[in-house]
Amino acid sequence: MKEIENRKDIEFLVDEFYRHVVKDEVIGFFFTEVIELDFREHMPIMYDFWESNLLGTMTYKGNPMTKHILLNQKASLTPEHFQRWLQLWEEIIAKHFKGTIAQDALKRAQQIAGLMQFKIQQHSK
Ligand code: HEM
Repeated sequence: MKEIENRKDIEFLVDEFYRHVVKDEVIGFFFTEVIELDFREHMPIMYDFWESNLLGTMTYKGNPMTKHILLNQKASLTPEHFQRWLQLWEEIIAKHFKGTIAQDALKRAQQIAGLMQFKIQQHSK
C-alpha cells in the first residue's frame, strides 16, 4: 500500500483497472463490443487523463464528456453501469494505494461520473 506518486503508479493503477473492466460482466462489453477499442491507443490516453487529474501534468487533451455522450448513443449508459465502474475503481485503489492522492482519485471519479451522467441525461432529452 503506497501513495500514488508518479506516472508509473498511474500506469499500474489504470492497467489493473482495465484488466478487471474488460472481463467484467456488467460493463466489460462497452470496451470490447460496443467500441472495439485499440488498447495500444486507448491506454496512453487514460494514463494522460489520470496523470493530469491527480498529478497536474496537463498531458490529457481530450473531451471525455463528448466521448461518453456518443457512447451512450450506441448503447445506453445506466446508473447501474456507472455504479459498477466506480465500484471497480474503488476496489483497485483500496487494494493497492493509500493517501491523499488515492483519496483524490476516488473523489474525482465520483465527481466526473456524476457530471457525465448529468450531461448524458441532458443530451438524451
Ligand atoms: C459506465 C461507465 C463507463 C463506461 C462503460 C465507459 C466506457 C468507455 C469507453 C468504451 C471509452 C472509449 C470511447 C471511445 O474511444 O470512443 C471510454 C473512454 C474514456 N473514459 Fe470512460 N466509461 C465510463 C465511465 C467513465 C468515467 C466515470 C470516467 C472518468 C472518471 C471515464 C473516463 C474516460 C476517459 C478519460 C476516456 C478517454 C476519452 C478520450 O478518448 O479522450 N469513463 N470510456
